[in-house]
Amino acid sequence: MFARLWQSAMIALARSPRVTHFMQTARITAGLRDRFVASGDATDAVARAQALFRDQGLRSSLFYLGEYVDQPALVDENVAAKQAVIQALRGTGLDVHVSVDMTQVGHLLDPALAARHLDTIAETLRDGAADAPPDGLHVLMLDMEDPSVVDATIALHDGLADRGLPVALTLQAYLKRTEADLDAQIRRGGAVRLVKGAFVGTPAIAYTRRADIKANSRRLIDRMFSAEARAAGFYPIVATHDARLTAYTRERARAGGWPPGSYEFEMLLGVREPLARALVAEGERVRLYVPFGRDWWPYSVRRIGENPANAWLLTRSLVG
Ligand code: FDA
Repeated sequence: MFARLWQSAMIALARSPRVTHFMQTARITAGLRDRFVASGDATDAVARAQALFRDQGLRSSLFYLGEYVDQPALVDENVAAKQAVIQALRGTGLDVHVSVDMTQVGHLLDPALAARHLDTIAETLRDGAADAPPDGLHVLMLDMEDPSVVDATIALHDGLADRGLPVALTLQAYLKRTEADLDAQIRRGGAVRLVKGAFVGTPAIAYTRRADIKANSRRLIDRMFSAEARAAGFYPIVATHDARLTAYTRERARAGGWPPGSYEFEMLLGVREPLARALVAEGERVRLYVPFGRDWWPYSVRRIGENPANAWLLTRSLVG
């Protein structure tokens, strides 16, 4: 109960333009930013991805920050930043995902505009895919936002996938509909990143207790590692810092004959990185979600909302 209230409060802080402006310009919050976000531009982000792979064997998913954007100039900036990342990746041979939120490429202004932007980004990614290592996916990862955009995100994903573009989809275990959505993606032989969900839903559409979300995560993982999924060429991505769920995933993978590399784990920069390194040491494929850019407050405060124990991070940054 407290955890849900805390998460709702942090989501409200993330959505407030005034708080966002204040926090992003206040020097006192720099520590918070540095914990969860990489510094610099697209070139710096790619350099960070190179260092993570070279030094720790960790792959990256690069995300230019900015969400729920309703100004055309900011949409253009976001699209340009995604393109800049893809250009900076050329010739590196890195296996990197480029993550995108629908609402950062114009969905709130005009869904057709967002669709056109995603198309262009996915095509640029495909054209540069010759550089990707043979064992790696080189894809546009669609992040999943609140329930109002789930249908649109899935439809866009499916449209891009039908055109043979390199695209993957995030699905959230807190939503009751996800079981059916996942089954559809398994039948398509797609790639799905399963997360618990960083939003709060009503009981009509969502599991609201942590234990229920976790139980649903297990059921969904069972499906992701089923014989049917294997036969369809499905690619499971389990994105969690929950060590019990990573252990469960590995158990299911072993039982179903999925070798490491035929699936992957994904975690966030700044959250439980020792767990990520331990999985790499045991031969698993692990990716870190590396956000960069100046619009860092909404993203970071949502991370705080995911874990009440992180309240001290917020307090520490505010009291200096
Ligand atoms: P859970 O919250 O149960 O935590 C397990 C343990 O991990 C905790 O006990 C704590 O020790 C540690 N931990 C977890 N979160 C922490 C944090 N923020 N700080 C410090 N420690 C923490 N959501 C969404 O709705 N749409 C999306 O597109 C994405 N995308 C995405 C990508 C990737 C790569 C990840 C890892 C996560 C997302 N998420 C997301 C967020 C996701 O839905 C979820 O809110 C968080 O991952 C937290 O849930 P966990 O499964 O990690 O475990």
